[in-house]
Amino acid sequence: MQTREQPRPFPHTLLLDNFHGGRPRPAGGELFERRNPADQRDLVSVAPQSSADEVHAACVAAREASKAWAQTPAPQRAEVLGRLVFLLTQDKESLARFVAREVGKPLREARGSVQEAIDTAVFFQSEGRRLYGQTVPSELPEKELFTYRRPIGVVGVITAGNFPLAVPSWKIIPALLCGNTVVWKPSDDAPGTAALFFRAWQRAGLPAGVLSVLYGGGKEAAGQFLIDQVDAGLVNKISFTGSTAVGRQIGEVCGRNLQQPSLELGGKNPLLILADADLDLAVDGALWAAFGTAGQRCTSAGNIIVDRRVLPAVRDKLLRRTRSLRIGDPSNPDVDYGPLINERFMAAFTRQRETGIDGGAELLLDGRRILPGDAPEGFSGDATHGLYATPRIFDKVKIDMRIAQEECFGPTVNLIEVDGMDEAMAVANGTPYGLSSAIYTRDARSMLRFKEEISAGMTSINNSTTGAEAHLPFGGNGWSGNGTRESGIWVLDAYTRWQAVNVDLSGKLQKAQIDIAENALPERADLEAILPPRVEPRRP
Ligand code: UN1
Repeated sequence: MQTREQPRPFPHTLLLDNFHGGRPRPAGGELFERRNPADQRDLVSVAPQSSADEVHAACVAAREASKAWAQTPAPQRAEVLGRLVFLLTQDKESLARFVAREVGKPLREARGSVQEAIDTAVFFQSEGRRLYGQTVPSELPEKELFTYRRPIGVVGVITAGNFPLAVPSWKIIPALLCGNTVVWKPSDDAPGTAALFFRAWQRAGLPAGVLSVLYGGGKEAAGQFLIDQVDAGLVNKISFTGSTAVGRQIGEVCGRNLQQPSLELGGKNPLLILADADLDLAVDGALWAAFGTAGQRCTSAGNIIVDRRVLPAVRDKLLRRTRSLRIGDPSNPDVDYGPLINERFMAAFTRQRETGIDGGAELLLDGRRILPGDAPEGFSGDATHGLYATPRIFDKVKIDMRIAQEECFGPTVNLIEVDGMDEAMAVANGTPYGLSSAIYTRDARSMLRFKEEISAGMTSINNSTTGAEAHLPFGGNGWSGNGTRESGIWVLDAYTRWQAVNVDLSGKLQKAQIDIAENALPERADLEAILPPRVEPRRP
């Protein structure tokens, strides 16, 4: 990784090489650029568009490295994580600043996302000294039964740009700890962050060849080439965070190869506000869930579902608070949200406005791209060179409208009126997704009902839909994934396979289910002796 000086006032540009087979591969072919979404004159990184041949070669090398890594004792593999924790903690501020520059995350949030990677590494460092199997009693004498977690082999990791350090860490850390080797295709929105994370692994002493990084796009590019390696028999698992459409394609490829991918996909997350809720708290949560990270989290709230008795009050409060959101430069400590990550998200956000209006929704607040000369009050960004947008609120939304059904990464949210808990539950479960969810109420029975009836992998009570902690299972139902989970102990099942072992020390062939000791029922006479005396029916 080299750097190149840019014309002032921008910092250096990172010039990236792929890294596989244990060494850097100077880029020979096509390159792509990543620019700062807050100021697109700032060239953050330049990386190779990896070719199909190169991705293939990387997977061959990862296979070769996998045996030695799998045989390295788990506590030793975890030592690398201990050093990673130290390095990420030491570099937290500079990493956060780089994340803010590369994907436009406000610095406060960027620090949080580095912390999420640190938390994950802390958790799995100690897991290296557990990674428990079980001892199981045998039905036969002098025979022992055990279970072991075994690595799967080569894991292909494909990640999105909105959490360019946290989400890759959820996958790469447990995959490596469990003894797999990893070939990582990071988002083309965040190649520089990936390079810095990769460098931290190298400095932490990860053996050469255990983790590889190859840059490039997804479609007909590095991402697709990595998926193709499943069909080639070189990759044993894909772990993906991104769109439901791409997740489906990956699921198909993995399915025909009898593999189970980890798929973390879209969401259209409901946030319910019941009539008895603390409305200020609920609006605080709704505001953060809808507009935090400019609405570019898979856990962002898409539909705010409000009981009609409090809808006028919620509408007023939400509108007032949304109008006072501070948009602008991510390095400004006061901003609520920064730019959109890329032009693609901006185009989809722009289209969603027309989709909503065509579908019959009303614009309560008209969110649009911020253009020079038309910036809202308090805006601290560069409207000429940055990808900024004002927040959008749709009112009078019905759950069957397209905008209520489709995920949109951007600062946009729908208000949906409901009458009572029955309708609220039906609407909350009224999309094909099921990632995150939230309810605001003071009533314990409503909380209980919501927990039991909402179809979502994650549920908040009196808290926002976003902000999962790094040691709880993360993942969703329906179109939000394939049922696998990330984080905490649950993710171990995604990166290991159980091996059942039996050891027979009896010195003879003992057949299970057949050579078991006879445990016959008592004889009839013996049974009668223990039965109570028969009672004769009374004669009239
Ligand atoms: C994502 O948007 O892909 O729970 C991940 C949250 C964050 C992670 C979001 N900790 O909102």
